[in-house]
Amino acid sequence: MRQRLVMGNWKLNGTKETVVSLIKAFAAEANKYDKVEAAICAPAIFIGLVEENAKGSRLAWGSEDVDVNNQGAFTGENSPVQIKEFGCKYAIVGHSERRGYHNESSEYVAKKFKAAQAAGLKPVLCIGESLEEFEAGKTNEVVDAEIKAVIDENGIDAFKNAVIAYEPIWAIGTGKTATPEIAEGVHKHIREYLASFSKEVAEGVQILYGGSCNDKNASELFQQPDIDGGLIGGASLKADKFTKIIEAAAALAK
Ligand code: 13P
Repeated sequence: MRQRLVMGNWKLNGTKETVVSLIKAFAAEANKYDKVEAAICAPAIFIGLVEENAKGSRLAWGSEDVDVNNQGAFTGENSPVQIKEFGCKYAIVGHSERRGYHNESSEYVAKKFKAAQAAGLKPVLCIGESLEEFEAGKTNEVVDAEIKAVIDENGIDAFKNAVIAYEPIWAIGTGKTATPEIAEGVHKHIREYLASFSKEVAEGVQILYGGSCNDKNASELFQQPDIDGGLIGGASLKADKFTKIIEAAAALAK
């Protein structure tokens, strides 16, 4: 049985003050449930502050990205080993904003996935198609290729210690959520694709949905058999919204 996971991705948002107040609210909410996990991925500069305020609670935390290198002359990058030192459990890799604005290829994302795992972090691999690809019926082809690059670099068993987040680019920050039927169709496909390499891996891996997921639509999305939770952008910056999403996941957890 896969545990439900509700993860926030703050992106490039927040102040010291909002970090402290949001983390306190989320940690208190996370402490109410033992059958669902809540986590926040924060801008690297705030991870120490997240650790200070979440330590000892059931709230997990992570980074929004990692570099492929642990140390050296790589100005401005964030080392997986350094991130791990601040108590992170997760590291997002391959978010569409990194792929798009920083030209990160699937092969490079696969190397970040490897570096994160080697440092003891659980990678959260983001995959998803553009509006153009969606309209052309290429969704499955796109997500398969993004997953295959990681399998080629790391092997299928690497997904025993990873999370996948399906985030259709056309749904991110647009208010246009994929319907539960569309999202479930892609999640089911992803699981079938993984099963063509390993049934055990396909059954075990958590697949989150991301893209305008909020307190109003989370429950319906999370009720789908292959949707194990959400990766939440905008709504994770609001204490009441994100706590309601955690509550919605907990209400479905058996
Ligand atoms: P929104 O929830 O703001 O659409 O963002 C989704 C996302 O990109 C999470 O990683």
